Order: sequence, then structure tokens, then C-alpha cells
Amino acid sequence: MRKGKIDFTLFDEICGEVCDTPSYARLKYYVAHADVSVFCHSVTVAKNCYVFALTKKIKCDVRSLVKGALLHDYFLYDWHHLPKFSFHGFRHAKVACENASRDFGLNEKEKNIVLSHMFPLNLRSFPKCREAWIVTLMDKKCALKEVFRIKEKQL
Ligand SMILES: [Fe+2]
Ligand SMILES: [Fe+2]
Repeated sequence: MRKGKIDFTLFDEICGEVCDTPSYARLKYYVAHADVSVFCHSVTVAKNCYVFALTKKIKCDVRSLVKGALLHDYFLYDWHHLPKFSFHGFRHAKVACENASRDFGLNEKEKNIVLSHMFPLNLRSFPKCREAWIVTLMDKKCALKEVFRIKEKQL
């Protein structure tokens, strides 16, 4: 399937269920990387996961893939304002999983997606399914793009 032929109906439906809530809207006010909000970063990761799974025809639970991707950074604080040695990189996946379980309800697969998205930084949380592998890869791809885009702007 080519990128232009992708049907985004399911993506838009899941996105609507998660993103159109007041609690998720809070992510617009937290910065992820460079000048990109956690909201934009998370939606971009989810969209990349969706496109990747459909274009590569990967057999997976697309609903859990998108929901897990949307909620992978749902830690609900500005990590730029944390004190030194807060170990945000190691800890935020667990916080995101707890918050997302409370606000949206996650199944076991979705919990693994959120908990393991920082792999291999957090070796104890290993991606146990295809969906989790896709999210951890797309998260890194999107984060790198976001950081380097701002570096280019600064040159
Ligand atoms: Fe993260
Ligand atoms: Fe992320």
C-alpha cells in the first residue's frame, strides 16, 4: 500500500477518542523536544506508527498500536523544569503508563507499549509485541527529526 492510498478513518477515530479530551489537551502545554509540544510529538509518533504498519502490511492490533503511541509520553509534567538528576528518561514511561491507565484504561499490550517505549534505555521494560517495537522505533525517529529540525533552524 502506498502512503497516498492509506485510509485514515480508523486512525482519526482512535485519535478522536483520546485527543479530544480535556486531560489529553494538557499535553499541548508541555514541551517534548526542541519547540514541539508533547501533544504534537505524540500524534506524529502515532501517525508514523499507523502509516508504517499499513504500508509494510504488518499484522498487528492497529487500535492498540495507535492508542499506545498516543499515550506513550502521557507523563503530564514539564520535564525541562525538573531538578537535576531526576532521571526523567528512565522514569517517565512508568508515570505515563500509570496516568494513561487511570485516564483512558489500557490493556496489557498497550501497557507494554508505553512502558517499553524508551528501550534500550530502560532494559527492564522490554518490548514484548510488534506494536511495542513499532512505537519504540517511531518514537526515536520522530524525536531525532524534531531535535535536528530545530538545530538546522539555529544554523
Ligand atoms: Fe518518552
Ligand atoms: Fe516520545
